[in-house]
Amino acid sequence: MTASNDTWLSPTADLSLLKDEVHIWRAELNLPEWRLQHLAQLLSPDEQQRAERFYFEQHRQRFIAARGILRTLLGRYLAIEPHQLQFRYQPRGKPVLVESCGGKQLFFNLSHSNDLALYAVTLERQVGIDLEYLRPISDAEQLAKRFFSAGEYEAIRALSPSQKQEAFFRYWTCKEACIKATGEGLAQLDKVEISLTPEAPANLLNSPSPLQNDQDWVLLELTPASNYVAAVAVVGKGWQLSRWQFL
Ligand SMILES: CC(C)(COP(=O)(O)OP(=O)(O)OC[C@H]1O[C@@H](n2cnc3c(N)ncnc32)[C@H](O)[C@@H]1OP(=O)(O)O)[C@@H](O)C(=O)NCCC(=O)NCCS
Repeated sequence: MTASNDTWLSPTADLSLLKDEVHIWRAELNLPEWRLQHLAQLLSPDEQQRAERFYFEQHRQRFIAARGILRTLLGRYLAIEPHQLQFRYQPRGKPVLVESCGGKQLFFNLSHSNDLALYAVTLERQVGIDLEYLRPISDAEQLAKRFFSAGEYEAIRALSPSQKQEAFFRYWTCKEACIKATGEGLAQLDKVEISLTPEAPANLLNSPSPLQNDQDWVLLELTPASNYVAAVAVVGKGWQLSRWQFL
């Protein structure tokens, strides 16, 4: 499935999320100083320490923006002050809400690339999201050989030079969205098998064991902005997607 011609809604005051809904939020990360200062105040001590460890100021600011916005969004869904939210981290680093947060089983995942972030929020459904800024890469084939399945590598190799770059990033985001849904790391990338063409949207052919076989997963490509590609992987069928612009 591809969500093309995406419309990104402005948030309403009352943000409700139903079990059969998946909310995707798009946010700019290059923010003015006054907004960054406000968002920085929402971070926990460990997040503030992490922010201080970035070598480049731009990376520090983007982390503060992405985390502060994450807290703001989740706080709205849970009706909790953003700074009161508590995260714990799965073995490979996936942040999840501690069980006691707001009494709702809210799942989320986020991805940032360049100056954009995407967030996926669901109720009682695992979710993974990945976003990539389309940038020139000279070694798409070598990367595909290293990280992708044999079939995907061959599919990339067969494309014309002008198609290769975007196809590579589409495969990458689709595969990463799946492994991020399970909380795995890049080592699992070759276990997820995707088929796509420049004309056709991605199909999930095969997934690693943590994507339980008895549950259906839906993989959906998104077009968040020009020069970006993205994908979201969600457990179970029968849900509706809404896209929101964080202001
Ligand atoms: C998860 C991973 C694929 C994401 O990489 P990426 O494309 O650089 O980053 P993205 O922007 O798409 O996503 C990053 C966000 O996803 C979340 N995240 C981190 N680890 C995650 C994981 N394993 N699964 C799902 N989401 C994860 C975080 O919110 C992170 O944002 P933050 O860095 O601001 O906290 C990569 O970080 C990875 O392979 N991690 C695993 C590392 C590992 O195996 N460690 C061993 C244990 S020490």
